Amino acid sequence: MHHPPSADRSQRPEEGSWTSVATYDQLLKTSALEVIVGDLVLAIFRHQGKLYAVDGMCSHQGGPLAEGIVEHGCVTCPWHGWQYELETGIQTINRQPLQQCYSIRELNGSIEVLL
Ligand code: FES
Repeated sequence: MHHPPSADRSQRPEEGSWTSVATYDQLLKTSALEVIVGDLVLAIFRHQGKLYAVDGMCSHQGGPLAEGIVEHGCVTCPWHGWQYELETGIQTINRQPLQQCYSIRELNGSIEVLL
């Protein structure tokens, strides 16, 4: 009834690709940035010397996580106070990984996220 997909139907690398989303200078002036990449909204954080990238829209009702307060490795959504671990995206009350996280790095002054 249907045919198997051809092996080379996509040229996208399977592991995703590092995508520049900001400059490191931008993240020095502030500890959090909201960036839009294609149809994704990402919240980028610099916290305790490390970089984090999570889905910028809260799993609850889409609140802007980049505007949340960051403490002890967690961000608190500014709308209704849900909290997520920056490292894992785990919601701290129900312990479910509700918020998508992305690998992030700084390379030659550019902030890159693995998408
Ligand atoms: S939208 Fe984030 S806690 Fe409600």
